[in-house]
Amino acid sequence: IDVDVDKPGVAIPADSFGLMTEEINHAYDGGLFAELIQNRTFQDPGSRGGPGAGGVAVGGLPVHWSVIGPGKAATVDADPATPALPLSLKLELGGGESGVANDGYWGIPVRPNTAYTASFFAKASGGFAGPVTASIRIDDGGAIVAKADTPPVTGGWLKYTVTLRTGADAPTTSKARFVLSASGAGSVEFSLVSLFPPTYQNTPNGLRVDLMELMADLRPKFIRLPGGNYLEGNRFSDRFNWKQMIGPAELRPGHQGCWGYRSSDGFGLPEYLLWCKQLGAEPVLAVFAGYVLNGDYARAGSPEMAVYTQEALEEIEYVSGPADSEWGRRRAADGFPEPFPLRYVEIGNEDWFDRSGSYDGRFTQMATAIRAKYPHLKIIASAPVKSFTPDVFDDHFYRSARELLRMSSMYDEPKGTPRPLRFNGGGYNGRQPGGIKTFVGEWATQEGRPTPTLNAGLADAAFVMGLERNSDAVIMQCYAPLLVNVNPADPGKGYPRAWQWGTNLIGYDALRSFGSPSYHAQVMLAHNKGDVVLPAKIDVAPVKPKEETPKGKVGLGAWHTQVEYADFTVTAPDGRVLLSADQARDIKNWKTTGGSWSVRGDALAPAERDGETWAIAGDPSWTDYTIHVRARKRGGR
Ligand code: AHR
Repeated sequence: IDVDVDKPGVAIPADSFGLMTEEINHAYDGGLFAELIQNRTFQDPGSRGGPGAGGVAVGGLPVHWSVIGPGKAATVDADPATPALPLSLKLELGGGESGVANDGYWGIPVRPNTAYTASFFAKASGGFAGPVTASIRIDDGGAIVAKADTPPVTGGWLKYTVTLRTGADAPTTSKARFVLSASGAGSVEFSLVSLFPPTYQNTPNGLRVDLMELMADLRPKFIRLPGGNYLEGNRFSDRFNWKQMIGPAELRPGHQGCWGYRSSDGFGLPEYLLWCKQLGAEPVLAVFAGYVLNGDYARAGSPEMAVYTQEALEEIEYVSGPADSEWGRRRAADGFPEPFPLRYVEIGNEDWFDRSGSYDGRFTQMATAIRAKYPHLKIIASAPVKSFTPDVFDDHFYRSARELLRMSSMYDEPKGTPRPLRFNGGGYNGRQPGGIKTFVGEWATQEGRPTPTLNAGLADAAFVMGLERNSDAVIMQCYAPLLVNVNPADPGKGYPRAWQWGTNLIGYDALRSFGSPSYHAQVMLAHNKGDVVLPAKIDVAPVKPKEETPKGKVGLGAWHTQVEYADFTVTAPDGRVLLSADQARDIKNWKTTGGSWSVRGDALAPAERDGETWAIAGDPSWTDYTIHVRARKRGGR
């Protein structure tokens, strides 16, 4: 490899790497948002075929809730705590201790010496005037590991907040429930029931510590938010309606997400900003652009598009406007007096799916308004447009390891020559007239479920290096999706598995979390980020074909019949690896002088017979090369 260290190279922007996810795989509810109560406002419809399926029933027991003791519980819709919380859970006491229990997001994580903040709205009726006990109880045996009492509950809605502390002897387990209970006669109603463990930087209503630590190690410089399909929603009523996702939790109604479950919207626009702030990352804000996933769209110039355009301008003000502007004031009231740095706004998401051709008009209407009010903002298009020139195109690639590896060079050539502008990988080389840059806003090797394999991590790393090498054209990139709650389905309870998307960067359950090989590849790249791509030339000598294969010269002899599996590397006399074990795995039914068998991709046994020289019948080109074989005999080593 010749590297020209004295020649100028392409600068790699320090801010080119970011994060991207949305409400998918329980990324926020049951993930990054540290809230532990699932269905805290009793509105979740439940899964197909599971409890609560088919809609929110008044008079039933909501999904994820159960009754303990002699009482009864059901949802009611009279006199709600706030207009955004239409259902309350009414507990009719049955004499002894009665309660309602929540089983959390696949359990409630219990750890020793830990303080939890529980809060809920409550109101008493039917003569009840006692305290409510909030507790965390182990599933098996019901042992109480933390509890606290409220003051006596009154006849009007009030919010109660208590701290629950586990002792040194508490187990570490997620097989636990959160219980609200009371004793005596009468009834007590609950609304917006919440339980938080310690959060990242001890922020109220904050983010999960272990996930934030994993993400911090990726050193992201931006977060593309809020989606993804989640920006669009399946129907107009399910779009990312940011104005319903700000302010206090009791004023957020929640909405049906597009990945099969309802979002509490406890993780709303202010929490996205908290996420940015705590990681030192800038928001890259995607605004709803009048197209939803069922194919409906608003026409450019329609009253609906005027509303969406205005909402986008206001959303930009909420994020980046001064604290004395109308929407900057709302942001300050949500805890962020300082405006957030905002340089990029994306209009829509993957609008290449809009077969109506409406994107050009919708984009142009919104881009024109944004440019007029915020001329400093760079505008990102999510599909080709012709009536307004964007600053950046956002392109997405979800591919196999082999394809993404091949695509590591897709931006290399031809320099300075625009290719036809097709999205989702087809043809577009990132270099367009007018200096339009490329943002690879979603990409991943799709291998490994629900988190990627090592092979995927290698392909990912090669792809990222290809993007970096072309930093003159590709200015930003982020893997997607970022987060996955890995819990499997629980048929006993009728709960579906927690995840929807095949391959995701960081996995977790209620107690634990881990970075996949792709995550670690990205950490390595982030910690070793270059400033400049130096011009380099790689000289690989071509493999010289040989005349014939000296059959019978080498082999495993009688041993080959007992081979359970084998893995190969092929090395040239000068030490170059011509065929890695990984590539060899893709070749089925290799013929060797000793026989043939399928090469399997299983884990390798310790090397045996390493370094024997083999010949491969039918391929004379490898005669002089050494095939290293790592193999295992049937039934053992
Ligand atoms: O990242 C998952 C999905 O992939 C996103 O929601 C969408 O933009 C893309 O198709």
